[in-house]
Formats: sequence, C-alpha cells, structure tokens
Amino acid sequence: MNLTLNNGVRMPILGFGVFQVPDEQTEQVVTDALAAGYRSIDTAASYGNEEAVGRAIASSGIPRDELFVTTKLWIQHTGVDTAKREFDKSLRNLGLDYLDLYLIHQPLGDYYSSWHAMQELYGEGLIRAIGVSNFHPDRLVDLITHNDVVPAVNQVETHPFFQRAADQQLMREHGVQIESWGPFAEGRNDLFTNPTLTEIGKAHGKSVAQVVLRWLIQRDVAVIPKSVRPDRMAENLDVFDFDLTADELARIAALDTGSSLFFDHRDPAMVTWLGGRRVD
Ligand SMILES: NC(=O)c1ccc[n+]([C@@H]2O[C@H](COP(=O)([O-])OP(=O)(O)OC[C@H]3O[C@@H](n4cnc5c(N)ncnc54)[C@H](OP(=O)(O)O)[C@@H]3O)[C@@H](O)[C@H]2O)c1
Repeated sequence: MNLTLNNGVRMPILGFGVFQVPDEQTEQVVTDALAAGYRSIDTAASYGNEEAVGRAIASSGIPRDELFVTTKLWIQHTGVDTAKREFDKSLRNLGLDYLDLYLIHQPLGDYYSSWHAMQELYGEGLIRAIGVSNFHPDRLVDLITHNDVVPAVNQVETHPFFQRAADQQLMREHGVQIESWGPFAEGRNDLFTNPTLTEIGKAHGKSVAQVVLRWLIQRDVAVIPKSVRPDRMAENLDVFDFDLTADELARIAALDTGSSLFFDHRDPAMVTWLGGRRVD
C-alpha cells in the first residue's frame, strides 16, 4: 500500500528500518527483509550501515524502480557544500544513482544551508523527495516559511505512548507526511505486554506489534519497524487484513502520555550531546 507525497511521489506506507542493526549483520538482515516483501528501506549516514544496505539491494535483483530508499544527513555534515558531498557519499555507499527520500536527520546545526543544497539536488533529479526528521511544529513551519520546497516527510517518534495527533494535523495542513520512528517505542514502557494492546490483538488474532502498526497505518502514519528476525519481519508486514474499530482506536488513544520516551530535542543538554556526535 502506497501513500502519495506532496510532490506526487508514491511511498510505501510500511517500510523497514535498520537503526541499531550492526553493520556486519545488516546485509543479511536487509536481504531477509527484501525477501519477506519489504520494498522501502530506511537508513541514515549515522547508522554506519549504508554500504551493507547497498550490497543487499544490489544482490537482491529487485528492479530499482520497485524500491524506495531513504537515508539521512547527520548534524556534523550540515552546510551547502558539506551536505552535497555527504549526499554523494551516501549515494555511493548505497550503490545507487538516485535516492527516493533524503532527510535532514535532526533540526540542529546549519540545517537551512543543508536544505538549500537538498533543494538543488532535488531540482537536478538526484532525489525524488526531500524531507526532515525530528522537527517540532515550530521548526517545521519556520523551514517551510523561508524556503521553496515544502518537506515531503517529517519522520518523528510516534507510538502509542507518544501519539502526536496535533503535530500530525499541523503537518497535514502543510502537506507534510508524518512518518513514525520507533513505532514500538523499541519495546519501552512494556509495550509488547501492554494489557490494552494485548486484548485488542486477541480480538483480531493479531500480536501487539501488528495492532500498533495497524493503528498507525489507519491514522495515515507511515511506519518503518525494525527487526533482525525473519519471523517478526513477516509478522510486521501482515497488517492489512484487519481493521481496528472506533472503540479500539479510542482505547489506544487513551495510552498517550504526550511526551517522548527517548529524548527532548529542546533540552540544551541533549542538543549539546547530539551536536557533538561524530559519525566519521
Ligand atoms: N529519524 C530518527 O531520528 C530515528 C530514530 C530512531 C529510529 N529511526 C528509524 O525508525 C526505525 C524503527 O525504529 P526503531 O528501530 O528505533 O524501533 P522499533 O521499530 O520501535 O522497535 C524495534 C524493536 O522491536 C523489536 N521487534 C520488532 N518487531 C517485533 C515484533 N513483531 N514482536 C516483538 N518485538 C519486535 C525489535 O527486536 P528484534 O530486532 O530483535 O526483532 C527491536 O528491539 C529505525 O530502524 C530507523 O530506521 C529513526
């Protein structure tokens, strides 16, 4: 199932993420994910596994135009020239001659200059869609206000404990597609044994993971769950044969805590830590 982004590009609503997949495991994991049926892969320069993703893509034999590949520009590499250089490097690492989606990984550093570079690369046809990640509404609206291209996607932490309905509404008003990172909150808050999610799953013969993905998809949120296990890869894809009822959606809505389970991009200590993180 595909979503249509604000420039008409079609993106699978369900893809596969490779954050925290060790480099030496990534080629096999992505090979398994492609074999399971995933066609959208989400990586980042900062994950250190772009080359392994590229090898798996190359050996899969899947036609390039059937794949949707996303990577991200790290804070260390913001700026016009640096962003262009790092884009080339990511493309080489991935073994591709164009990218489907390129994201500014964090709203930190000189990301306006990065966006100018990305607009140029987009204009040259080297990227099919450009977007951002971890942008709170104020940062998103400011970027939109002062630039030509409206981000196609904003990839943000979104899961049952941090649902971001108001943020999604604002994105919708600006034509920005919300994409969830951490759909399972990486298991935090005992997500996989949550009583409400477990009970809803039982009613449909589905797992908690499937309920969460279905809930996000029914809200028009793009998802990129990560798993290194082929059985879970298949399980996470098998979410298109049931519908959550209005009552079930309301029960899940009640799980929202309204805040991050990971980190706050407005916390000066976190901004300092992220800004100092070097990826090479
Ligand atoms: N833009 C950003 O700043 C940002 C930040 C974080 C993540 N992301 C992206 O979002 C993707 C997804 O988020 P995430 O990897 O952080 O976390 P996640 O998808 O919420 O959770 C992954 C965890 O759930 C487990 N899991 C997966 N499927 C399961 C299932 N069916 N049943 C039980 N456990 C299951 C995985 O274990 P196993 O692997 O052992 O199965 C892993 O421990 C990332 O891979 C990355 O591409 C982006």
